[in-house]
Amino acid sequence: MAKNTEDLPWWKKTVVYQIYPRSYMDSTGNGIGDLKGIISKLDYIKDLGVETIWFSPFYPSPTDKPYKEHDCGYDISNYRDINPEYGTMEIFDELSEGIHSRGMKIMLDMVMNHTSIEHPWFKESRSSRDNPKRDWYIWRDGKKPNGKKPPTNWRAISGRSWEYDPLTEQWYYHGFLPIQPDLNYRNPEVQAEMLDTVRFWLKKGVDGYRLDMFQALFVDDEFRDAPLSRHIVSDDLDILFRSSKRTYHHPDTFEFAKKLRATIDEFPDKYLVGEIMASYETLKKYLGEITEDGTDNNGLNLVFLFQSTTAGMKAKTFRKLIKDYEGWYPYPYIPTWVFGNHDQPRRISRMGNSIEKAKLNAALELTVRGVPFIYYGEEIGMQSVFIPKNESRDAISYAFGWVPQFLRNFIKRFGLLMNRDECRTPMQWSSSANAGFSPAGVETWLPVHQDFQKCNVEVEEKDPDSLLHCYQRFLKVRKETPALNAGSITLLDLEKSPKSLLAYERRGLTKGEEQIIHVFLNFSKKMVTFTNPTSNVQLLVSTTIQSNPVEGNNIILNPWEGIVLK
Ligand code: NOJ
Repeated sequence: MAKNTEDLPWWKKTVVYQIYPRSYMDSTGNGIGDLKGIISKLDYIKDLGVETIWFSPFYPSPTDKPYKEHDCGYDISNYRDINPEYGTMEIFDELSEGIHSRGMKIMLDMVMNHTSIEHPWFKESRSSRDNPKRDWYIWRDGKKPNGKKPPTNWRAISGRSWEYDPLTEQWYYHGFLPIQPDLNYRNPEVQAEMLDTVRFWLKKGVDGYRLDMFQALFVDDEFRDAPLSRHIVSDDLDILFRSSKRTYHHPDTFEFAKKLRATIDEFPDKYLVGEIMASYETLKKYLGEITEDGTDNNGLNLVFLFQSTTAGMKAKTFRKLIKDYEGWYPYPYIPTWVFGNHDQPRRISRMGNSIEKAKLNAALELTVRGVPFIYYGEEIGMQSVFIPKNESRDAISYAFGWVPQFLRNFIKRFGLLMNRDECRTPMQWSSSANAGFSPAGVETWLPVHQDFQKCNVEVEEKDPDSLLHCYQRFLKVRKETPALNAGSITLLDLEKSPKSLLAYERRGLTKGEEQIIHVFLNFSKKMVTFTNPTSNVQLLVSTTIQSNPVEGNNIILNPWEGIVLK
């Protein structure tokens, strides 16, 4: 039985905004973003109406090296400090205080699976076979007879998964790039250290974590070869006809999810969201079991559901997604709604760069049941920027250097970016040079999109019909309406209604009273008219500013219009 919205933990109702620190705001004029820059934009974020800010990593990482030798922060060389390129611990404290004093929450990215090759632990580990840190990573002899073949046939996302180290004549394992050796979670010291790291930031006031590549924490302890798979890429991440069963989704990782949950639950009101590539069924294992009182689960609080990132703009597609999510993750589980991040093509670029569709997409994202994740710039319609292979910065682009440009362009159509720079370009703040991200004359670390003079915060703030205002309106209504931010969802099956219509009811309890809200979304370039199936007639919000959708018993929606009725 659902609880009163007021009694639910904040993270079940929140809206998350993801910032890629290198690209948000440059306060020093060196072409890359930094923490002070972010601090200067906190009022903007507050006014947007999001409630939690997730930061991609800003810990020390060898970002001073050439781009192909690091993963822009996802290879950490010290888990308990700030990368000097971005600021200091004092500035972090100022940022955290600035977020909390505005009533928002802060969420960090915890890259637990692997460290940087430059981490002092790894440097020690590789120095000799009997170094005390040797067993903090996964070292093995190569296959016989001479040990010059990798220990297993496992695949990493970037291709090969073992690197030979001539110094000690053994191989180390990595699930991502060779510069990111995997930690050995079978070593109790590693577990203790990482759980303490998690506590370190929670004690500093951080409210939650996004967990990077969580599916990869434990690998097969017998180091058996991976069997064949019939997939090129499967939901559970079999890659190129090789099963992922030895490297991902190990039962010990499901157990560790509970241990991690117990660790954050030592502190009140914290939460975890896992980045896990998996089928619905496997994902559910990370969420653990439902607690005795039926109001929570005991594994990760949330997991990303990435199915929406590639969903086409059709009513029937979203109808199916909602059915799937509700079928697999009914209350007390909470689905997540993700349309983009720092690894994926920008959502609007998957919708023909249409602002109308982007508005409808926002209306859906902010009115379905679940926690929405908005990637910076999505709220103003920032598009992917085409960056040719020979100009890329992304280490993945180098790792797949052999893939020619035409093939990259083709693969992109399926939502896979071989150069993730394309979705990481500087935030577009204004029509000034460098879109107001860096001062004029500075070369920004990635190019600014050439449409910045019309797609930017300053311009859109002045236009009530902009995408930015649309996000603001929906975020405000969502926050103020308990049924929307925490209620149940039921799809409406409307007889004789147009195929392009998606309609659902949201019901929530507030102060013991039931609130019932209806959402109608028109996934079509044509106007639609249908009989109002509800007794609700008051318009709470629409994607269109001059909307007057209720006429007598009828509802009339403009092309691509989405509305909420009370
Ligand atoms: C997933 C992150 O989202 C991606 O950006 C990163 O490169 C890999 N994990 C490795 O940490």
